[in-house]
Amino acid sequence: MRDDFIMALIMNNILKVKRVFRCGRRYLLQRNESATAEDLTKFAECPPCVFSGIQPTGVPHLGNYLCAIRKWVDMQQQYDRMFVSIVDLHSITVPQDPATLRENILVMAACLMACGIDHEKTILFQQSTVAYHTELAWILGCLCTLPRLSKLPQWKEKSKVVKDPGVGLYTYPILQSADILLYKATVVPVGEDQIIHLELSQDLARAFNRIYSIIFPYAKPLIGDVSKVRCLKDPACKMSKSNPNPMSRIDLQDSADLVATKIKKSVTDSIRLLSYDPQERPGVANLINMHSLITNTRPEDIVQEFGNLNKVQYKEKVTEFINGTVQPINKEMTRLLSDKHYLHTVLDTGMNRASEIAEVNMKEIKQAVGLR
Ligand code: TRP
Repeated sequence: MRDDFIMALIMNNILKVKRVFRCGRRYLLQRNESATAEDLTKFAECPPCVFSGIQPTGVPHLGNYLCAIRKWVDMQQQYDRMFVSIVDLHSITVPQDPATLRENILVMAACLMACGIDHEKTILFQQSTVAYHTELAWILGCLCTLPRLSKLPQWKEKSKVVKDPGVGLYTYPILQSADILLYKATVVPVGEDQIIHLELSQDLARAFNRIYSIIFPYAKPLIGDVSKVRCLKDPACKMSKSNPNPMSRIDLQDSADLVATKIKKSVTDSIRLLSYDPQERPGVANLINMHSLITNTRPEDIVQEFGNLNKVQYKEKVTEFINGTVQPINKEMTRLLSDKHYLHTVLDTGMNRASEIAEVNMKEIKQAVGLR
């Protein structure tokens, strides 16, 4: 089917762009949305492959779960090849305490598994244990210009708040590109704020394919709407790990009582009854959104069903639904974290499986560059 499609494209002479071999630096990072016929034929050989990464910076919150991790869990059914990487090298772009980082890597592994990442199906691994990531990042870094990186918003924002920001913070998106390209990923589930990084990975893939040889597919983003779950104290912002007030979010390791307190104290408004109006009543809309995401019900239907409750009663209802999701994860995380040896075994297996694929791809990449 895909071959037929490609043949039709060629026949219709839609793709007029001829690929230029060894075209030199002037082609670096030029954005060209269309793939050539040759690209497409090559990519048809790339099996669908999903890659996503998450930083080990503490216990994920409900927003991370509902808008990202849960999507990965569902995707496991659709895709035969899927990677979930605990991107520890990304997290050290800002200072980390070594003991905390070490612990957080295991916490993240336990959390992902407790959320439903099946480590037998999905390749769940710790980024730094596959050294090819940094090796490929170097090769890609040689194709990336400084102005291209300086335009990326994360650098602009973070370099302002971090004291003496390091080069790693600047080149971070190149490492992210390497994560994606090393496994020839074709689908990358990300939050909206990461789309710009995915574009860089596509651009670097294009630059590499033009200069050396066609190796990399151009991965497509699968955008999760992470903005749906808002801060409990100020619904103008997203629920965020970096908010210093823990009452502003529901963490996946919060006890049932703590969840109840956080929801009870969440900011709403003075209107007694329930209605869904994200503009005028963002706090209430946030509660309804969480409820809607958890139960897969439309906000309008929720208002219809629970409209007779006052806000206090509705908060109790939402707490029940949230705890129905959070407590099983919390319990499973605690169980998994009590056996660190097992978690290490899981990550070691992930490392071996990821390395095997990365090694084959890296040989091809080095060959193309002339490094072997
Ligand atoms: N930069 C991403 C974040 O901060 C994490 C990440 C690293 C990632 N490598 C990745 C996400 C590769 C998707 C694909 O959320």
